[in-house]
Amino acid sequence: MWKLARYLRPYRRECILGPLFKLLEAIFELLLPTLMALMVNNGVARHDRAYVWHIGLLMAGMAVLGCASAFTCQFFAARASQGFGTVLRNDLFKHISSLSMRQMDAFGTETLTNRLTNDVTTLQTGAAMAIRLLVRAPFICIGAIVMALILNRQLALIVICATPIFALLLYLFTKYSTPLYRAYQKGLDHLAVVVRENLAGVRVIRAFAKVPQEKRRFADSNDSLTATALRLGRISALLNPLTTLVVDAAILFVLWFGGRMIGQGTLMKGEIIAFVNYITYILIAMVALSNLIILFTRCAASGRRVAELFAVQPDMEQAEGPVPEPDADAPAVELVHVDFSYGGGKALEDINLRVLCGQTVGIIGGTGSGKSTLVSLIARFYDTTGGEIRLGGVPIQKLPDDALRNLVCIAPQRTVLLTGTIAENIRMARRGATDTQVKAAAEIAQAVEFIEKMPQEYASRVERGGANLSGGQRQRIGVARAVLADADILILDDASSALDYGTDAHMRGALRRARAGRTTILVSQRAAAIRDADVILVLDNGRVAGFGTHETLQTGCPAYRDILATQA
Ligand SMILES: Nc1ncnc2c1ncn2[C@@H]1O[C@H](COP(=O)(O)OP(=O)(O)O)[C@@H](O)[C@H]1O
Ligand SMILES: [Mg+2]
Repeated sequence: MWKLARYLRPYRRECILGPLFKLLEAIFELLLPTLMALMVNNGVARHDRAYVWHIGLLMAGMAVLGCASAFTCQFFAARASQGFGTVLRNDLFKHISSLSMRQMDAFGTETLTNRLTNDVTTLQTGAAMAIRLLVRAPFICIGAIVMALILNRQLALIVICATPIFALLLYLFTKYSTPLYRAYQKGLDHLAVVVRENLAGVRVIRAFAKVPQEKRRFADSNDSLTATALRLGRISALLNPLTTLVVDAAILFVLWFGGRMIGQGTLMKGEIIAFVNYITYILIAMVALSNLIILFTRCAASGRRVAELFAVQPDMEQAEGPVPEPDADAPAVELVHVDFSYGGGKALEDINLRVLCGQTVGIIGGTGSGKSTLVSLIARFYDTTGGEIRLGGVPIQKLPDDALRNLVCIAPQRTVLLTGTIAENIRMARRGATDTQVKAAAEIAQAVEFIEKMPQEYASRVERGGANLSGGQRQRIGVARAVLADADILILDDASSALDYGTDAHMRGALRRARAGRTTILVSQRAAAIRDADVILVLDNGRVAGFGTHETLQTGCPAYRDILATQA
């Protein structure tokens, strides 16, 4: 966790100057009660107006300087902590992006988002508070005791006795409240999960009449949060009267003994006022210190979560150096004894496949048979757990990332659209594409018909996640995007599942014409969608159940015949 401190290194100057200015402010503040004592003793008691004015102006000047110092410190603290947070967030984001899909799956989107936002913000606040208070609070405590000792040794004993009692009270408070704070934070996280699931799944929840159950779930989560907050509140409520009691007792003693000393002529009135002030200072500084401890325990937890993420090394090696020349005679895609598992059982087992350049391949199989898994291996979203994948004769791990993305383009089963216009979403595949090229891609994907009916055609807005489009419309934009990339190998993963048979057939016809002579992999659950492919791979339960043309499979592959029979 301390490794994160290196993000503060560029702000070394701010981290040193900030606390120094805060110290300056503390010194001015510590001098004020003593000046007050002088004013009362020498000015007020002797009716010396000039002296009162003199000291009064000095005090005002110090207050102004203290204020300016505090401002300067605040400025440095803000600069250092905001800069620290920004760089840390950027680095963490970069790190998350470098992780493999398998590693991201293992963490889950929610915790990644939380670590990137909440945890980094907590660390940022911690850094700011450290600059402002970490040096100042103990300095004020010690300084107040020293000033008290200088004013009057005997009375200072009262201040020295009161300090450990404050410290003990605050220690007990911190000890009992910290776990509660942690529980509260956790409860807040849980509530956030319930809310997010409900808002994201609002249609399903309403459709299945789960609203009352969900309301109860929310109420339960909220109630437990309230219970924790109340316990925390009770402890806090106790702290205030207890510390006030100690302060008042200390002041009482100061007045009692001080009064007697005045009677004996060994003390002056002004000193009593100064003592009362110093006692209050110590209390305020101690409270700041205990808040700092609570904040730092939260920072420690956040720091651990962030550091844990940084400690994960990307498990997918990226190839570097020159792009290996593909072998013109080698198959476009070749899988040799490929095994794959997501962590549990095998999702794919001993897959062998040869796709020649320019061929159209159909992949068919029931849901969960491993079709999407197979094509995501060809796009290297995951590395195989066994066997090898070669593209144009080059092992897939040897291809640098951008070369691979130029070579293979996939329209995933679930189309993800980003906020922006329709044209921007299609153009994601190729930034520099002209309007004509975008339109041609939309034409092949059979998307023109609905896009041109929209009020602003290609400039129409896509809402978050494509919420204002139907499933089939989203799919067609996804296909247009993949087609526009114009990659040597195009993969469409069940990209026409939401289309009617007619549109699906039109799309396939257009694709065949546009991609003549180039490799295309079509994944589908519908036999009709792939029957015209040059070769068909039949998957069953993660294994190859058949490979060949429609005709040969029809006679030789029982699994294929079963699929045909159920879809006849
Ligand atoms: N991200 C994932 N993590 C764990 N298991 C997965 C993941 N994606 C798919 N699976 C599992 O792998 C198997 C194959 O899934 P998939 O390739 O999506 O099948 P298909 O596309 O043929 O419907 C299924 O048993 C599924 O539960
Ligand atoms: Mg699938």
